[in-house]
Amino acid sequence: MKTSIVKKKTDISHKPIGQFEETRFEKIHNVIFSDSNEASIRVAEEIAELIRKKQNQNRTCVLGLATGSSPIRVYEELVRMHNEEGLSFQNVVTFNLDEYLPMEKSNIQSYHYFMHEHLFNHIDIDPENVHIPDGTVSPDETVAYCIDYEKKIKDFGGLDFQLLGIGRTGHIGFNEPGNPFESRTHVVKLHRETREVNARFFDSLEEVPEYSMTMGIKTIMRSKRILLLATGEKKCEAIRKTLYGPITPDFPASVLQLHPDCRILVDKAAGQLLEMNSGTMAV
Ligand code: F6R
Repeated sequence: MKTSIVKKKTDISHKPIGQFEETRFEKIHNVIFSDSNEASIRVAEEIAELIRKKQNQNRTCVLGLATGSSPIRVYEELVRMHNEEGLSFQNVVTFNLDEYLPMEKSNIQSYHYFMHEHLFNHIDIDPENVHIPDGTVSPDETVAYCIDYEKKIKDFGGLDFQLLGIGRTGHIGFNEPGNPFESRTHVVKLHRETREVNARFFDSLEEVPEYSMTMGIKTIMRSKRILLLATGEKKCEAIRKTLYGPITPDFPASVLQLHPDCRILVDKAAGQLLEMNSGTMAV
C-alpha cells in the first residue's frame, strides 16, 4: 500500500503576544521555519490571498515592498502564481521602501532595476501603480519629493501590507540607528556597516552611495499589517534584539514590538538565538 504524507501548511496568521507561545518571551509573533524557501512561499501566499480578497471586494490592494536578498524568493513565487495560477496584479498599487541616492533608474544596482527585474517585468501590474523613490531627484527637491511620496501613500488609503527585511544594524527600510520613530519618508545617511554589507553588489565600497531615500519608521508602522522575513546566521543577533531588546531608536526594528499586526518569519539560522527555540516551529 502506498502511503502519502501530506505536509500541513504552517499557520502564520497573526496571534497577539501571549497567544503564540507558552515558554518564550518574545514580544512579536514569530515563526521559525526549518527552511527559508518555505517561509518565502508562505509570505507569497499571504500576499496573494490579500490581493484576491481585495479583488473580490473590488478594492485596491496597497503593498509596501522591499528589495535585497530576503524577498527574492517571495517575488519569484508571486511571478509563478501569476503565470501558473492566474494571479492578477491589476488591482495592486505598490510603494517601495527605499532607493539609493543618487542613483539612476537604469543602474543595475538601483532598487528600481531590482524590482523590475524580479517582479514588475513579469506580472500584469499597471506601471502607473508602481512607486519607487526616485534616486535621481536633485538635493533641493528631495524634501518636496518625500512629502509627495507620503501623500500618495495616504491618498491610496495607506499601506495594507508591508514586507520587510532587516539589516544587521537593525535598520528597517533604510532607517538606521538613531532615526526617530516619528520619521516619515526622508533622506538618510547610510550606516557604514550597511554600506559594507551591500558592497557585495557593487565593484567596491566607494561605489555604494552614502545616502538613500527611505520610508520613515512612522510610515512603516502605519501599515495595517507587517511581515518581516529574515534568513541566515548573520541576522540572528538582529532578530534577537528585535524580539527581546528594549524599544529604542538605537535599534530601529525594535519599534515593531509596538505594531498590532506584525509577524517575523525566520529560518533556523536567523532564529538560533531565540530562547529555548520552541515557539511556533514549522518543521
Ligand atoms: C531594502 C531594505 C533593507 C533590507 C535589509 C536586508 O529595501 O529596505 O532594509 O531589507 O538591508 O537586506 P537583505 O535582504 O539583502 O539582507
